[in-house]
Amino acid sequence: MFVNKEIKKIRDNFPILKTKYNNYPLIYFDNASTTQKPKILIKKLKYYYYNYNSNIYRSNNNISKKSTFFVEKCRKVIKNFINASSSKEIIFTKGTTESINLLSIILKNIFNKNDEIIISILEHNSNIIPWQILCKKKKLKLIFLKINNKYNISIKQLKKNINKKTKLISLTHISNVFGTVLPIKNIVKIIKNKNKKIIIILDGAQSIAHIPIDVKDLNIDFFVFSVHKIYGPTGLGILYGKKKILNNLPPYQYGGSMVNDVLYNKSFFLKTPNRFEAGTINISSIYSFIYIINFINKININNINIYEKKLVNYTKKLFLKNKNIILYGKNNINISSIISFNIKNINNIDINYFLNKYNISIRNGYNCSHLLMKYLKINGTLRISYGIYNNYEEIEKFYFFLLKIIKLLN
Ligand code: ALA
Repeated sequence: MFVNKEIKKIRDNFPILKTKYNNYPLIYFDNASTTQKPKILIKKLKYYYYNYNSNIYRSNNNISKKSTFFVEKCRKVIKNFINASSSKEIIFTKGTTESINLLSIILKNIFNKNDEIIISILEHNSNIIPWQILCKKKKLKLIFLKINNKYNISIKQLKKNINKKTKLISLTHISNVFGTVLPIKNIVKIIKNKNKKIIIILDGAQSIAHIPIDVKDLNIDFFVFSVHKIYGPTGLGILYGKKKILNNLPPYQYGGSMVNDVLYNKSFFLKTPNRFEAGTINISSIYSFIYIINFINKININNINIYEKKLVNYTKKLFLKNKNIILYGKNNINISSIISFNIKNINNIDINYFLNKYNISIRNGYNCSHLLMKYLKINGTLRISYGIYNNYEEIEKFYFFLLKIIKLLN
């Protein structure tokens, strides 16, 4: 397990942690929004543009061959990281949001009128709206699973809602508001026992940087995540899908590097993954992401998981002692790196306004989860989300200033 010395070494990789505002060093607790970037990423992005910048697949020149090699290498590295069966199952997109939108488009033909899609009230807006739009277009029913008192989805409700019309179930792996880890392996077993044909999508935006992922073991059909949430660059996302399903689905966009041949009245498309990657993809980010996976592998995702849980439990203990703090999900033991809370009688906007004066970055508001906030009848939360560089000292400083702000505003 990590000791202080190791965390200090990890922290040294992140130059932004040395920046100051009002003479206070940055305390960054907004990792569920995006993570900070290590030196290796910044270095490799620059290295790419100094040495390899070119377009992939098409040009057949020296540097283009190098770039193509690295894109395919990155697919392999990601395949191993999430334990997919083949690198052809790894598709590059812009992010989690694009991956889910893409799925909502390429899967549209599996539905007949009155079919049903199940999601949950815990979903981020990007795992709600694309399905809402599809349901309107195809006259389908969108079913929302409610949550239990542990802020997890109710298995009883899940069982009750699966029927002959259920065609697709799309769930978050970890709630971006409460950090609740859904028991996905069990959920998938229940779904596949009822009907093997139901398509299962897992939104890994909040799990990829925090818990080990094994798509084969989970037996999900699709898994999506954003690279910027695992210390990588913005503008790159991953869509994993089972090869046999992907090759039977139509492309999402049309253009260069996704066709075999083009005739006057029709075109022939490549197989997965190129079939879903029309145009020029984010080559520099893909190249640099190889080094991020190496970086994470060296630290070890299991160590990260254990360490971040300790930070969360430490924070929860502090919060539970304070009667001004409303902590959401205090009974929840299956929790990852995220905590949501509110302060009694004080607006979360005001708290965050003052935290900024001490250079403490957290998130406040709806957390891109409008429906969940409506369901809980609250006007947003304050959200802390930890990453590999956070430590106990930062938590203590944050708590010290939080108490000061509560006193000031009460
Ligand atoms: N999905 C990100 C969050 O929950 C932006 O903060």
